[in-house]
Amino acid sequence: MADATLLQSLLPFTDIETVKEATSTNTLARRWLLNGASSGSMVVADRQTDGRGRMGKAFCSQNGGLYMSIVLHGNHQAGEVTTLCAVAVRRAVHKLTGIELKIKWVNDLIFNEKKVCGILCEGIWLGSKQLGMVAGIGLNVCQTDFPEELKAIAVSLYPDGNSPVSREAFAAAIHQEIFSLLPAIPLHMAEYRDHCQTIGCKVCWQEGKYHREGRALSIDDEGALWIETERGSISIAAGEVSVRGVD
Ligand code: BTN
Repeated sequence: MADATLLQSLLPFTDIETVKEATSTNTLARRWLLNGASSGSMVVADRQTDGRGRMGKAFCSQNGGLYMSIVLHGNHQAGEVTTLCAVAVRRAVHKLTGIELKIKWVNDLIFNEKKVCGILCEGIWLGSKQLGMVAGIGLNVCQTDFPEELKAIAVSLYPDGNSPVSREAFAAAIHQEIFSLLPAIPLHMAEYRDHCQTIGCKVCWQEGKYHREGRALSIDDEGALWIETERGSISIAAGEVSVRGVD
């Protein structure tokens, strides 16, 4: 299990819970927020039995990965926090390992052309009032194997299973980067755009029964993707559709 004492020593002012197994750390953090957890509280699991991704997809969450969710108080937009977390993970991984990750709009980090990290930010509401948000991050640190259907698209930072950096160190560094970026939203967007490999690419998506194609032009400060299509420029908000690269 993640070493709670080590993690607590790296983040002395943060409420932290570590568990061997969770259904989803986002579910635990949501419950924690509803029960009054302070902003910054963090849940870390060794594995998840029901890890969730965007658009109702499952997120493979085996031992060797880092699965963490952070409670954020206040009004936040999912697009803004998702892009912020992507920058935070990129910075933390670079500082600790020297590895340069790329970003795939809106919530994926890419290493050697494959997905190494996914982010799921969920707003938590009590009636019409937003209590806050849960920012969930799944980083493939040192899984040595993935299920057959993911082998071609998923990768870990250290596929041989030996990570020189502990999962506790990754979790603490990501947490610190998130809280250094939060007060300055949307200043992180310049860095997001600089490292986003989607801009300039041909992309496709599904609109009901229609297949659409266009070229990704830019990403605005709310995290929406602007695409040039044969019918003019359109924007797609984070969370609306799944956009895939074509070339
Ligand atoms: C995606 O790939 O679409 C997003 C994946 C987000 C996975 C993380 S792992 C920690 C947290 N708990 C979850 O169930 N999901 C997020």
